[in-house]
Amino acid sequence: MAKSGEYEIPKQVVLLDATAQLKALMSIIRGKTTQRGDFIFYSDRVIRLLVEEALNHLPFVEKEVTTPTGAKYNGLGFKGHICGVSIMRAGEAMEQGLRDCCRSVRIGKILIQRDEETAQPTLYYAKLPPDIAERYVLLLDPMLATGGSANKAIEVLLDHGVPEERILFVNLICAPEGIDTVLGAHPKIKIVTAEIDSGLDERKWIIPGLGDFGCRYFGTE
Ligand code: URA
Repeated sequence: MAKSGEYEIPKQVVLLDATAQLKALMSIIRGKTTQRGDFIFYSDRVIRLLVEEALNHLPFVEKEVTTPTGAKYNGLGFKGHICGVSIMRAGEAMEQGLRDCCRSVRIGKILIQRDEETAQPTLYYAKLPPDIAERYVLLLDPMLATGGSANKAIEVLLDHGVPEERILFVNLICAPEGIDTVLGAHPKIKIVTAEIDSGLDERKWIIPGLGDFGCRYFGTE
C-alpha cells in the first residue's frame, strides 16, 4: 500500500503524481507571502490537473469514428453523464476548472455550516441538477480537513439518489483524519487529491496546509 509519511493511503484515494511541476505549483499556493493574483492563477492550474485526473476515473465505452481520410479509428467515449457539485464557498473556486474541461457542465451547490449550538455540520442550502441520480458527481471542495462537511454533503447526494460509487470528491489538500472520516462513512467514493498533509492542529487547520483557501482565493478575511 502506498504511503504519505507514516499514513497508509487507502485504495480509494487517487493522489496526483508528485512531479516537480506539481510541487512547484503547490509551493506557490502554500507560501504565506504569495499575492492573491498568483494564488488564484496557480490554484486554478492545480484544479485543472485535478479535474483532468478525476475524468480519468470515469467509465468509458469503446467508440469507433471515421476520420477525414475515410479510415476508422477505434477510440473511446465517455459512458455516463457527469455534473459538478461545489461545497460553498471555497468549492466554488473549482467550478471554472470543471467548466474548462467539460463544456456546459451542470453544477449544483451545497452550503453547509456548523450549527452554533450543536457544533454539528448543518445543511443550509442545496440546489442540484434534477437528474443528479443518473450522473457521476464531481464533488468540489479544496480542503479536506475533518471530513465533517464533506460527509454531510455526501449524505445530501445520497438522499438525492446518487449511488456512493458515482461520487468523486475532488480537493487540493487532504488531512489523513478527513480521508479516514469520509471513507469510514462512505467507503465506495473516490477521493482525488493533489497532496496529503500531516494532520490537523487544535483549531482544525490542515498542517502544513495553506491557510484559509476561500479567503485567499476570494480576497476576504
Ligand atoms: N479549510 C481551509 O481553508 N483550510 C484548512 O486548513 C482547513 C479547512
